[in-house]
Amino acid sequence: MARPAPSDDAVIRATDLAKTYRTPFRRKKVEALRGVSFAVGKGEVFGFLGPNGAGKTTTIRLLMGLCSITAGSASILGQPVPSREARQRLGFLPEQPYFYDYLDVVELLDLGGRLFGIAAAERRRRGDRLIERVGLRHARGLALKKFSKGMMQRAGLAMALINDPDLVVLDEPMSGLDPVGRKEVRDLILELRDQGKTVFFSSHILSDVEQISDRVAIVVGGKIQDVGRPRELVGHAPLGTEVLLHLTAAGDVTAGAAAPADALAAATAAITARADKVRAERDELLAVLGPGADVDDFLAFARGHGGKVVSVTPRYETLEDLFLRRVEAARAPAAREAAS
Ligand SMILES: Nc1ncnc2c1ncn2[C@@H]1O[C@H](COP(=O)(O)OP(=O)(O)OP(=O)(O)O)[C@@H](O)[C@H]1O
Ligand SMILES: [Mg+2]
Repeated sequence: MARPAPSDDAVIRATDLAKTYRTPFRRKKVEALRGVSFAVGKGEVFGFLGPNGAGKTTTIRLLMGLCSITAGSASILGQPVPSREARQRLGFLPEQPYFYDYLDVVELLDLGGRLFGIAAAERRRRGDRLIERVGLRHARGLALKKFSKGMMQRAGLAMALINDPDLVVLDEPMSGLDPVGRKEVRDLILELRDQGKTVFFSSHILSDVEQISDRVAIVVGGKIQDVGRPRELVGHAPLGTEVLLHLTAAGDVTAGAAAPADALAAATAAITARADKVRAERDELLAVLGPGADVDDFLAFARGHGGKVVSVTPRYETLEDLFLRRVEAARAPAAREAAS
């Protein structure tokens, strides 16, 4: 369902954010972020995408008030960062959650609740509900040091929700989770949105991001490359057509072939020469045609060579295509510089 675009009462606003890390001994500077601006509206699920080292965690750390801003400004829930008031209404899952490992998850959530000044009965009620919600019922009573990576991630998610926050900021929430766990986190994020909460999360699992985000930002090399709804960001012109064929040994070209296997090989070779890219396995052939190709002509040719058309599918740009395109474009100048 479409969500309203952010207005001036943005839940997160970053304006020309820059961060330069200085390593104290080697005095080297790392420009991690350069002029990052975006806004997240109330009730949005906002996906923050970028390759390793792009600056996702740095942006989140700046927004959370965990490190100093070099230039620019940011606000969270209408308060300039850092703000104690905003912190009360905020839930945060760090990239590598670390907790006292002798606690169990019940004690952890109780401690989390105390930090927000939640009364004992309410802490227990919320803790029990969250343990169920993140699928850690079986792990009650088990020390956190015995948790697997995925279990720790689930405990971190529960901890991020203990104060029933209006804004939830999650740094790689799907990291360490198996496909079932990832689906559970996607469902949890959508459930939070249905409760009217705002969710900002970083990830490089593009299919997860595409499925649940109202809007995304793509960050590469410390700069925002795109911000918008996934469907609006990707190109609308078809990138080409995929034709799936079932090959039979009945084509004219193959009539003289000695055996069915030779006939299939001959048909595969003939059709392959007409396509831009082909993936063939026994009698199945997937041909990719470029955007300007005459699909009708190709189909007639394939049929003439014993091909039965199983499907014809136009191929549009996906978020992954766009992401890869942006990463490549951002890295090309750096690679040229390095080579010169
Ligand atoms: N404390 C630090 N000191 C110096 N450089 C740092 C520090 N933290 C991050 N960096 C650098 O800043 C850049 C951005 O790092 P960041 O952790 O924000 O990336 P990321 O997008 O979260 O990557 P990943 O997907 O691997 O988590 C990288 O070049 C990184 O090496
Ligand atoms: Mg990171």
